[in-house]
Amino acid sequence: MQILDGKKLSMTLKEEIKEEVDFIKEQGHRAPHLSAVLVGNNPASEAYMRNKVKSCNMVGFSSDLIRRDADITQAELLLLVDKLNSDDGVDGFIVQLPLPDHIDDEKVLLAIDPSKDVDGFHPYNFGCMAQGMDCFLPATPYGIMLMLERYEVDTSGKNVVVIGRSNIVGTPLSILLSRKNKVGNATVTLAHSRTQNLKEICQRADILISALGKPFFVTHDMVKEGAVIIDVGINRIDDLSRKSGSRLVGDVDFEKVAPKSSFITPVPGGVGPMTVASLMMNTLKAFRRKFPYEYER
Ligand code: GUN
Repeated sequence: MQILDGKKLSMTLKEEIKEEVDFIKEQGHRAPHLSAVLVGNNPASEAYMRNKVKSCNMVGFSSDLIRRDADITQAELLLLVDKLNSDDGVDGFIVQLPLPDHIDDEKVLLAIDPSKDVDGFHPYNFGCMAQGMDCFLPATPYGIMLMLERYEVDTSGKNVVVIGRSNIVGTPLSILLSRKNKVGNATVTLAHSRTQNLKEICQRADILISALGKPFFVTHDMVKEGAVIIDVGINRIDDLSRKSGSRLVGDVDFEKVAPKSSFITPVPGGVGPMTVASLMMNTLKAFRRKFPYEYER
């Protein structure tokens, strides 16, 4: 069994990005700039945002965190999106989800200029992704694809089972893995809450990806010997042995599943850090498209 170490790999990717950003600055350009909009004070969103800003500093991007109260109106938020769309100093921006209930997420995501949509959530980017055209890939699926590539996990012809059909993880990942690409060419099953015989379906998976957000959902009896396990879940559970009274776990019962697997991602330190590194990759891509330059790694 080998750990797919997202923490370590994301550091490597961020070092590679930093080298390119240093080169950009040596050429006399300004640094790539990422803006992030945070509405309200959801604790999980606050934590993601801190990581994103920290990573921007690490790779040499400039960034700004734009906070708005939870009672912001839809019209005010759309105005802010418009302002970021037309700000030449902003190469890419994200609006952290979830948004408060009175805001229509769809309207906000549709208002983002696709050329600055470094989260890859706009239907333009999603459509390009589905057709294998140049686009911003959504950060979590992109991070998983990079992880499979760098660890040389063979996906061609393999049975992949993705559990969870969200717009930002399960659905795009199922498309990416089935496409004719270096990481791809898999036979993909997208399982969800109405799937029948889930256990039997999972038992046939060469690569099992869980993205549904339920602690310990994937148990050892659902997993084939030698399977690759990717755990996208980030769930906080009570743990009175910890000073904080809680800890983070994935969707997979790691202790019992790990010994049966060939590769497995831990939580934390697996997919999570890869998501942030992918956002940095997308921001660099947005900058490159705007200010083309020659760079050889
Ligand atoms: N909420 C949970 N994950 C994400 C993400 O990758 N991007 C944004 N904008 N919101 C999220």
